[in-house]
Amino acid sequence: MEKIRNAITTIANFPKPGIQFRDITSLLECPEASRLTVEKLGHKCIDIDCNKIVAIEARGFIFGATLAQELSVPLVLARKPGKLPRATLQQQYKLEYGQDTLHIHRDSLQEGDRVLIIDDLIATGGTALAVVKLVEQVGAQVTHACFVVALPELGGVSRLQKAGVRVDYLLEYD
Ligand code: HPA
Repeated sequence: MEKIRNAITTIANFPKPGIQFRDITSLLECPEASRLTVEKLGHKCIDIDCNKIVAIEARGFIFGATLAQELSVPLVLARKPGKLPRATLQQQYKLEYGQDTLHIHRDSLQEGDRVLIIDDLIATGGTALAVVKLVEQVGAQVTHACFVVALPELGGVSRLQKAGVRVDYLLEYD
């Protein structure tokens, strides 16, 4: 796991003063660490009883796509407004300043689906919790969520757990 950690760059004061930004673009630029990340995520997720993966825009798509192929389940994209061409379900969520909305194609989820959420990083959990609500709109359930990086001090991991989601990740940072 140290190889993966070493390939993630920390950028001080991005995007705002005081924030230590954990940047996975440097991980993607290191093929060995990137391959290892995909392999470890596969090990974490291979026995999860899910029938769909929902990947969160944008960096979640990278890992969600490879995992969906490995687990042989459909990959469903949770996207920002104006990106998905068919009819969508939508869910608003709070940002530090203001709010944003996530969409999923309405016909991509069915009642009873058991969903695994994939994203690169969990911080406050706002987007992942919006996906939990989106999925619940159709009577489906998010049973698990898996991330490359967790920042548990920002509260997202425990918020997801309180919502009944089993949370896993490869690395954590304070
Ligand atoms: N990296 C990437 N995305 C983030 C971070 C971070 O450190 N914190 C909140 N969102």
